[in-house]
Amino acid sequence: MPSSRSTLRPIVALAATAASVAAGPCDIYASGNTPCVAAHSTTRSLYNAYSGPLYQVKRTSDGSTTDIQALSAGGVANAAAQDSFCGNTTCLISIIYDQSGRKNHLTQAPPGGAASGPQPGGYDDLAGATGAPVTLNGQKAYGVFVSPGTGYRNDGTNGIATGDQPEGMYAVLDGTHYNGACCFDYGNAETNNLDTGNGHMESIYYGTCTIWGTGAGNGPWLMADLENGLFSGSNPGQNTADPNLTNRFQTAIVKGEPHQWALRGANSASGSLSTYYSGARPSASGYDPMSKEGAIILGIGGDNSNSAQGTFYEGVMTSGYPSDATENSVQANIVAAKYAVSSLTSGPAVTVGSSISFRATTPGYDTRYLSHNGSAVNTQVVSSSSSTALKKAASWTVRTGLGNSGCVSFESNDTPGSYIRHNNFVLYVQAGDGSKQFNEDATFCPQAGLTQGNSIRSWNYPTRFFRHFANNGYIASDGGPHDFDNANSFNNDVSWVIGKSFA
Ligand SMILES: *[C@@H]1O[C@H](CO)[C@@H](O)[C@H](O)[C@H]1NC(C)=O
Ligand SMILES: *[C@@H]1O[C@H](CO)[C@@H](O)[C@H](O)[C@H]1NC(C)=O
Ligand SMILES: *[C@@H]1O[C@H](CO)[C@@H](O)[C@H](O)[C@H]1NC(C)=O
Repeated sequence: MPSSRSTLRPIVALAATAASVAAGPCDIYASGNTPCVAAHSTTRSLYNAYSGPLYQVKRTSDGSTTDIQALSAGGVANAAAQDSFCGNTTCLISIIYDQSGRKNHLTQAPPGGAASGPQPGGYDDLAGATGAPVTLNGQKAYGVFVSPGTGYRNDGTNGIATGDQPEGMYAVLDGTHYNGACCFDYGNAETNNLDTGNGHMESIYYGTCTIWGTGAGNGPWLMADLENGLFSGSNPGQNTADPNLTNRFQTAIVKGEPHQWALRGANSASGSLSTYYSGARPSASGYDPMSKEGAIILGIGGDNSNSAQGTFYEGVMTSGYPSDATENSVQANIVAAKYAVSSLTSGPAVTVGSSISFRATTPGYDTRYLSHNGSAVNTQVVSSSSSTALKKAASWTVRTGLGNSGCVSFESNDTPGSYIRHNNFVLYVQAGDGSKQFNEDATFCPQAGLTQGNSIRSWNYPTRFFRHFANNGYIASDGGPHDFDNANSFNNDVSWVIGKSFA
């Protein structure tokens, strides 16, 4: 501290330091004169003074909803309130509230030009509420796990950039949850759910889609969805300065102003931001000036292209083009929030290496066990006097999850190398082929049973659980669109007693 300063200065400086430590991401953007005009997070408050609702969950047992708040102003979400509200049933994330005060909330996305969703009216799916557990500074919270078909949107926003107005945005994502389909996005999109042309979007994209731009290696990459193109740099094609990313928690930044845009990223758990691109707008017509429309999307493309997957924990959109320095402070705040992995499983232990059976618990069906006949998964009555072949068909070995080591896979005891996997939500026993799709479809996260024992949640579709329906095997969601999703008897049909294998 220079000796020429008055004795009051150090006190002022200390107070300013304390305030900046406590500041949330949106306090930091505001002090940089690029305030948040939308602030979404299911994990924490993004302003140090925000104590309103973070998100709403809807439970399937009675259709009722509750708002989840932070434990304290500026704090981490009250995950225990969700766990208690959702006990013995399943819950969906029905609203992600805007913390900026502009009411730019995200709700179930309607059908669009490219795709309709699987829900009534062509709406997209809502995310299951328990698919993305994490901790922040040791406190449990849940992110938004977007399976293919899941999407959120707001077409009637307030304060979001339109036309060629400058804006910034960041998101914290799960860098290990992605695919190559279009498009896991967060940001600015069309207000009519249609592709209205080049430059009508400006949003963060994360994944391995190679239709337009690419980065280094095989991805996944952070890119910008500017409509009719995912851009890793100035123009479609490869930008080797856009790295393939391997962080479990990934900070993603896209910002744009007239004649200029930038792509930046960092490990959300440590370190600082790198700039992957900063420069001119794409040269094709329509991108300079931009024609941003100001809707907000999450998990989908601007025309509701909804085949992608990913996980969102928090993100904001700003008014004005944030400085790199402001974003660097936001990254420091994210690191200080200390995102870390949390257990994906609960309930009675399902131990890797053990040989098990699954007994149905639905009254009238509780002598039946999950079994298979060829590739078809079904339930069969099995007892100590059954044939050896049937006993073996109803016996499984627990393996480390092929698609996520925090969950498990089930290898067939009579067909080594073959695993239970789902395809179009039907269960099959098939030989592992090592592909990302097979591995993810064969990964399941046992949790406390909805009525007893365990319920076996699909890792990549966490609204769905092992269910027997007409004695065949599915992954089913409570009250979902298929016959096997029927709400009648759902809780019993998805609750299994896991015991020793027969053979
Ligand atoms: C992706 O990045 C990691 C870490 O930088 C590197 O080890 C790996 O080889 C890269 N993979 C591909 C396919 O580019
Ligand atoms: C297995 O499927 C075949 C062909 O559908 C059928 O003939 C046979 O009875 C089934 N076996 C069992 C044990 O269900
Ligand atoms: C709720 O689930 C727990 C955990 O599986 C179970 O022990 C309890 O019996 C269930 N209660 C009801 C009413 O089903």
